[in-house]
Amino acid sequence: MDGNGRWAASRHLPRLAGHREGARAVRRTIEAAIHHGVAWLTLYAFSSENWRRPAEEVLDLTGLLRAYIRSELAELAAAGVRLRVIGERERFPADVQADLAAAEADTAGNARLNLTVALSYGSRAELAAAARRIAFEAEAGTLDAARVDEAMVAGRLYTAGMPDPDLLIRTSGEQRLSNFLLWQAAYAELVFQDVLWPDYGEPHLAAALADYARRERRFGARPG
Ligand code: FPP
Repeated sequence: MDGNGRWAASRHLPRLAGHREGARAVRRTIEAAIHHGVAWLTLYAFSSENWRRPAEEVLDLTGLLRAYIRSELAELAAAGVRLRVIGERERFPADVQADLAAAEADTAGNARLNLTVALSYGSRAELAAAARRIAFEAEAGTLDAARVDEAMVAGRLYTAGMPDPDLLIRTSGEQRLSNFLLWQAAYAELVFQDVLWPDYGEPHLAAALADYARRERRFGARPG
């Protein structure tokens, strides 16, 4: 979800205004995903690297997240959304962690849209953590190091049990993955859209889905 800062700057507004409008775009996009029958949606809301932003902006983003969960949870739950969080959630204030855990528990029975929010998420840190776990398990004798395979790695990522993404969308014209789902997106179709995140909505998601539908996916196999 890229481009909140530029959206605000182009209007001579503080960055927080861009993030606020970004939160409205989150709502629109969730509604659009449900409308289009998307069953899994993962939003990159805060990267491991975002902690390096000025303290005031980190505080604003944390506040926005807190307010968002408190104001939107009931509606998300009623719409059949199941919420999950991936990332180093322990880096957030205790009350936010508690709200996130409660939101996950309250929506655990829903299945219409599996909404995952990546918070303090970084793909390399996730892979390093999985490697650490595997090493500890091998050391403890509960796992045979010679038998470590792709499924064992996948099963130790934050996304264990979730399907790999089919489509990865980046907004604001940037064409980078920026440490997002590097393992999981091995075969994802990439769509880069030249729209700032606060302006994102149903027409943009529809266009990305249409683009995806035109792609021929071979997963490394030869065309048949
Ligand atoms: C990237 O834009 C956006 C972020 C770092 C924050 C994303 C947060 C939200 C959309 C709002 C809250 C989210 C939820 C789930 C309620 P940027 O600031 O890097 O923009 P720039 O590249 O134009 O500077």
